[in-house]
Amino acid sequence: MNIRNARPEDLMNMQHCNLLCLPENYQMKYYFSHEDPDDVPHGHITSLAVKRSHRRLGLAQKLMDQASRAMIENFNAKYVSLHVRKSNRAALHLYSNTLNFQISEVEPKYYADGEDAYATKRDLTQMADELSTGSEPTLLCLPFTFELAVIPGFGEPSPRSRHPTS
Ligand code: ACO
Repeated sequence: MNIRNARPEDLMNMQHCNLLCLPENYQMKYYFSHEDPDDVPHGHITSLAVKRSHRRLGLAQKLMDQASRAMIENFNAKYVSLHVRKSNRAALHLYSNTLNFQISEVEPKYYADGEDAYATKRDLTQMADELSTGSEPTLLCLPFTFELAVIPGFGEPSPRSRHPTS
């Protein structure tokens, strides 16, 4: 598996994958302008989507670990945050059980269709320690190669895009 940084020309395909997998999407300008209301450096995952044909191969886990690592190395991020629908059992399992995200609060009616979101955070200090001491976090390795793109979004969405439209 080969994961690389996303380039601007990847955005259309990323948005297409997002539309296939999720009921909400974001305008292109959203990916280029983020606000950061928190003094503590941190990353924010705007959206994570893996095409149905490629699920349960460890791709989401690996993308999230690689994105977190990039946040630490490039921005000294102390934590990474994201929102997830209360009804999204697969993603909740991934975040809570596999990636050790903790639910920090419930945001009522966060989504445009009125569903509540869990606001979650993953502390990155242990991963940062492992990186600084050279003891690499264990990453999954699969016996084939293809490319995926990931754009970690930094900061919180703007008020307009906090309630993404379908
Ligand atoms: N049910 C239960 N647990 C799951 C599921 C599932 N359907 N999918 C993943 N997990 C858990 C498992 O523990 C899994 O480990 P295992 O396969 O060894 O049991 C672990 O997460 C790692 O799974 P991955 O293979 O890395 O996950 P995958 O690449 O399949 O992607 C994702 C998971 C992103 C949730 C995918 O199902 C998807 O794209 N769903 C639709 C879009 C979506 O819901 N995205 C998240 C929205 S929240 C946000 O974007 C911030």
